[in-house]
Amino acid sequence: MNRREHGGEYIEFSYDGRSVRLPIVTGTEGDKAIDIRDLRKQSGLITLDPGLVNTGSCRSGITYIDGERGILRYRGYPIEDLVENCEFVEVAYLLVHGALPKADEREHFSDLLNRHSMIHEDMRNFFRNYPEHAHPMAVLSAMVISLSTFYPELESSSDEEMDITVTRLLSKLRTIAAFSYKKSVGEPFVYPSHRLRYCENFLNMMFSSPVVDYQIDPKVVRALDQLLILHADHGQNCSTSTVRLVGSSGANLYASVAAGICALWGHLHGGANQGVVEMFERIIRDGGNVDKVIELAKRKDSGFRLMGFGHRVYKTYDPRARLAKKVCHDLLEHLGKSDAMLDIAMRLEEKALKDDYFIERGLYPNVDFYTGIIFQAIGIPTNMFTVMFAIGRLPGWIAQWLEHRADREQKIGRPRQLYVGPHEHHFGGGGHRPSERASAK
Ligand code: CMC
Repeated sequence: MNRREHGGEYIEFSYDGRSVRLPIVTGTEGDKAIDIRDLRKQSGLITLDPGLVNTGSCRSGITYIDGERGILRYRGYPIEDLVENCEFVEVAYLLVHGALPKADEREHFSDLLNRHSMIHEDMRNFFRNYPEHAHPMAVLSAMVISLSTFYPELESSSDEEMDITVTRLLSKLRTIAAFSYKKSVGEPFVYPSHRLRYCENFLNMMFSSPVVDYQIDPKVVRALDQLLILHADHGQNCSTSTVRLVGSSGANLYASVAAGICALWGHLHGGANQGVVEMFERIIRDGGNVDKVIELAKRKDSGFRLMGFGHRVYKTYDPRARLAKKVCHDLLEHLGKSDAMLDIAMRLEEKALKDDYFIERGLYPNVDFYTGIIFQAIGIPTNMFTVMFAIGRLPGWIAQWLEHRADREQKIGRPRQLYVGPHEHHFGGGGHRPSERASAK
């Protein structure tokens, strides 16, 4: 039963002769939650919520999502405004520091990012020893945790030192990403340049070589900036929750982010952008038949899902997908490219959105549906798409990790479980000793 009294709203029920009373808490946008912290103490019960579908793990002031209305805001700013008006570095600052930078703060931040963009020379040797076919996400995660061995001062928790660690990570991640690409194509590493801005620098490190200068195209830089902004944060998704959970044990920022990168890699999460383009390629090889893929995705026994479709929170069009679609159209038009994949994507979207299976389940394109086509147009290889997602998501992970660390309500993350294994049993009387089992082989 739901009641309201002087101290606020609460929910009340009785279980096993005990009366249980739990407060209802309200967020700034009116969302409500039952605060179950005392549930076990009052009732002896725990909650069971596989996939944490109904579980809020924290209060957060970073990102607001309304999945029914397709709203996404970072620190109160609508994603549409940020994509239109900001550079990625400004949005990173907004997420990490809580407010958009003033002009002098912006310049100072850029300056710091430039100053910390190199990686220790000894780390270059690490790249040489990975096999040629190593997936860049594995390299990225391993290199991020390796940073903690080169920059041990992060063990101090002063604000100033933390700022340096944060800036280092933001800056070095794109250098690591570009170096891992250079290694995979057998070209020499290109160092970051203090003359270039964040995204320009990344593109230059990726695509220039001693024999070919990379011609920076402002429209391509802008598209990259916008894509990174679209990925910058998204509440308590799988990788962000991983970052928070690892951080909750007291592990440092590099360790937490390295774990977040691993979580992002999965095909149901950030790995979906690679999966989408591979799906488009299969459709093209198959003569462009989108119906076949839709039918396959609807068949439960196929084990196949329409990649880039569906979302835990959005039950309407993902606002990031809408923006990415526009960026995609604009960039391809600018580059004068007619793209077979864009054509497939649009036909697939149109058909799926008219299909009862997708309508009934509220399945719409998500952020990953169009981004791969853009990355490909920029020249980024398919196996690096999820690395791009990671570069974009990094400020969000950092902001969430810092918020978690400062949150006095938080404790080490430690869910419970409902045990469903065997009852207690003993050796003898039908039980086996391990040695008996081994000799029975
Ligand atoms: N294709 C076909 N059926 C789907 C799809 C899909 N892409 N997504 C969900 N469904 C079905 C699912 O089979 C289930 O059907 P039923 O109710 O009959 O059992 C229903 O829709 C609900 O799905 P769910 O698995 O309970 O939903 P979820 O919230 O646990 O999963 C998701 C969300 C994103 C993992 C899922 O939609 C999915 O696998 N999508 C494809 C992978 C993808 O694009 N991932 C990127 C997500 S956005 C970026 C990010 O967060 O990284």
